[in-house]
Amino acid sequence: MKILFVGEIIAGSGRRTVARVLPDIIKEHTPDLVLANAENMSGGRGITEDNVAEMQQLGIDYFTGGDHIFWRAGTDEIIDRLPIIRPANYPEGTPGKGFAEIDAGKSGKVLLINLMGRTSFSSVFSYLDDPFRKADQILEQTEDTKYSAIVVDFHAESTSEKMALAFYLDGRVDAVLGTHTHVPTCDGMVMPKGTIYISDVGMTGIIDSVLGVNKEIIIQLFLTARNQRFEWENTGRKAFRSVLLNTETKSIERVDKLI
Ligand SMILES: [Fe+2]
Ligand SMILES: [Fe+2]
Repeated sequence: MKILFVGEIIAGSGRRTVARVLPDIIKEHTPDLVLANAENMSGGRGITEDNVAEMQQLGIDYFTGGDHIFWRAGTDEIIDRLPIIRPANYPEGTPGKGFAEIDAGKSGKVLLINLMGRTSFSSVFSYLDDPFRKADQILEQTEDTKYSAIVVDFHAESTSEKMALAFYLDGRVDAVLGTHTHVPTCDGMVMPKGTIYISDVGMTGIIDSVLGVNKEIIIQLFLTARNQRFEWENTGRKAFRSVLLNTETKSIERVDKLI
């Protein structure tokens, strides 16, 4: 099946980019399922119900999360009823779900898994469970179900951790797609046992920024060695970043658009 995965949608500018670009991409590539990482979708960090609904209207079927998914107050109360998963290796008892079975109509059922890395994150994330063993557990728990595709969004900073997980899951899942760095990579490939991999899908939003944040603020951070209050950039050139997978022919291609 053909799956389009859209990289992290950053704030209003990212959502406007999706609105401008995605309908034509769907027409051109006719994916069976459209997924997107939503951790930065509302105000730059976190999600709102309205923004999720707005993106569904544009054709995104299901969403994944990451370290910023619980940023906004009240997320604990809404996350269970939204078409979104958060990293599965959050501690036991965390609201929301770490994987989901998605009904893709005539294409069958898709298992979508979200995991988060533990390398080079702030120290609070060292309390996450091991993403490798968590993946084993989920695959064991779901082994009796026949899926058309199993897709993992591995939200991680370190490319070594991402590649290691992809090799660890090679042949057991259809795709391991990296998110979190906001920088697209060109290393899309099929691993020896057939799993499709890319280190990072990249972000959808303003590229005249440092990873979505106003560039002057980040330059000041480096010049002064002092934390700065982040503001998300809202002017400049925009990029739509995504990858298109074909799980039958085993292929991955970048579908990017600059506007
Ligand atoms: Fe992000
Ligand atoms: Fe992130």
